[in-house]
Amino acid sequence: MSTTDTVEEAGYTSSYLADQHAGQLARLRTLEYAFDPLSQKIFDQLDIPGTSTILDLGAGAGSLARWLTTRYPGATVTATDIDTRFLNDIPGIQVITHNAKTDDFPAASFDVVHARALLCHLAEREDILTRAVTWVRPGGWLVIEDVSLQPSLSTANPLLRKVAQAGITLLEQSIGSDMLWADTLPDLLRDRGLSNIGHRTLEGRIGDNSPADTFWAATTAQAGPTLLKLELLTQNDLDAMANMRADPEFCDAALTLVSAWGQVL
Ligand SMILES: C[S@@+](CC[C@H](N)C(=O)[O-])C[C@H]1O[C@@H](n2cnc3c(N)ncnc32)[C@H](O)[C@@H]1O
Repeated sequence: MSTTDTVEEAGYTSSYLADQHAGQLARLRTLEYAFDPLSQKIFDQLDIPGTSTILDLGAGAGSLARWLTTRYPGATVTATDIDTRFLNDIPGIQVITHNAKTDDFPAASFDVVHARALLCHLAEREDILTRAVTWVRPGGWLVIEDVSLQPSLSTANPLLRKVAQAGITLLEQSIGSDMLWADTLPDLLRDRGLSNIGHRTLEGRIGDNSPADTFWAATTAQAGPTLLKLELLTQNDLDAMANMRADPEFCDAALTLVSAWGQVL
């Protein structure tokens, strides 16, 4: 294993989504609030021994890693991120500064490797996925979860489609994200020779004050200045979107969380 001691990285860490934003911790909390219950259900349905070694790659603000220590009190939980400042005070976890693009782990280091809302943002996603398979011990599980914005591109609502397309373009150009990649996850695990593959796709809506709505709003707000600067949207678009979201009559599908898992035999 090697580590990095810098967060000066092109892509995610220099983008509008990155950790230098004053609101980043609050935005990560909205993501956790929206997705933790969904991720926890995936862990609950897998046969994971209580003494497992578990890696949460790109663990962000760490609520899932924290939950893993209570769900599996005998387990060793490792949380990595390129920027570990939000992870350092979580009791009972090992924290490693680790750049998933360049840093490795020895083969068969973990019983479970999990990554959520990470790989869709990294242009090297397919290589990282291939390497992550090697980090899993025989009998262990790889669990990958990512956000797809497919529903907001398929909507009949032209304003939501426009805002979503602008967000996708911004993420793609400034970070290298692929916000439709998640839809291919089961095939990608199959291509890498995993067994007992399963997947689940759950829809998140906006306009209903749900946790997914709050996450979507926090991310759009953080992106707003850059969307305007790059002229991907106008202030009128952003205002119209905010008004539409506040309209009690409005509710629409915006995203899905795709979870896919497979066993290394
Ligand atoms: C959208 S957040 C998701 C956080 C967490 N997995 C979750 O779902 O709550 C993405 C995280 O990936 C981290 N990240 C970005 N680039 C990374 C890289 N190259 N290696 C490791 N982590 C990275 C960011 O610092 C951020 O914490």
